[in-house]
Amino acid sequence: MEKIILTGDRPTGKLHLGHFVGSLRNRVKLQNSGQYDEIYLMIADNQALTDNFANPKKVRDNVLEVALFYLACGIDPKKTTIFVQSQVPALAELTVYYMNLVTVARLHRNPTVKQEIKLRGFEESIPSGFLNYPVSQAADITAFDANVVPVGDDQLPMLEQTREIVHSFNRIYGDTLIEPKELLPEGLLAQRLPGIDGKAKMSKSLGNCIYLDDSDEEIRKKVMQMYTDPNHIKITDPGQVEGNAVFAYLEVFCEKEHFEKYLPEYQNLEELKNHYRQGGLGDVVIKKFLANILCEIIKPIREKREELLKNIDYVYDVLKTGCEIANQKANNTLKRVKAHMGIDYFENSSFLADMKKRFNETD
Ligand code: TRP
Repeated sequence: MEKIILTGDRPTGKLHLGHFVGSLRNRVKLQNSGQYDEIYLMIADNQALTDNFANPKKVRDNVLEVALFYLACGIDPKKTTIFVQSQVPALAELTVYYMNLVTVARLHRNPTVKQEIKLRGFEESIPSGFLNYPVSQAADITAFDANVVPVGDDQLPMLEQTREIVHSFNRIYGDTLIEPKELLPEGLLAQRLPGIDGKAKMSKSLGNCIYLDDSDEEIRKKVMQMYTDPNHIKITDPGQVEGNAVFAYLEVFCEKEHFEKYLPEYQNLEELKNHYRQGGLGDVVIKKFLANILCEIIKPIREKREELLKNIDYVYDVLKTGCEIANQKANNTLKRVKAHMGIDYFENSSFLADMKKRFNETD
């Protein structure tokens, strides 16, 4: 069986280190692994509009922005089709058919949606488009026959919902849709990088992000403000590593060669942690170390983005071409879906033939 990937992001802001760790880095790795027959990367503007309907400019402004970050991080448009959700009408059509297979009660049970409703204060007036976005996400996934969907753990309810729709559809209309599986990033920490304030998630609305285009100066400033251990006041005090954002980041980013390059007094992270726990290691030392590492990681991304900014036309063309490829694929699936549902009236002669037979006419 072919191996096909589909994944995507809502274009609501610049991409940050949390995106890099949770998905971008892994997508580039998957792309370059040579193990996949087709890879689709979707900028989910329609989904972003389900809770930004009153602010379409925010979504519009971030479509190309997100594409820029994709390319800057190493997504290669020759290997990965980058496209924009709203420009592939088959996705909206599939959503209409799938909606019949899902109850409103089921939509209300989705834990991620539940949490988002709370967060956005929608309780009393949930837009139906928002409640329904997991169904539209099932359309995104199945339209491309994707069987591998690399996502964070907050997306597991969407995958569950998609599989339910696939099963219902195939049971009612015959084998049509491919069942997808999630691909979670490796390592618990890699799934969710804490914010610089130590809060569980790096998020634009919390203002605790390091962006993938931050300058060295901004990165250093942010790292210096990072949450560590509030009881580690004097250098000689014993420090706590657990819940300490700097160590959480080091756990994710630091490699052996970083010690050789920036902190040769230590062999590895274990040694650094032990010294911190014992006392005698100041926050400034570990922060400077982390800042050096993050500057090294972000620099090539920022520079590639700056280069791409000089040629916006290229990025625009990448998206446009991506949409053409995506439309071909999704239209094929839509055709298949409509044929299985028997609503392909003008695609072939069978509708007319059936009706003639029904009304007892001869050709
Ligand atoms: N819900 C995803 C997010 O918030 C974006 C998304 C839309 C997506 N459609 C998808 C992800 C299909 C994977 C597959 O980031």
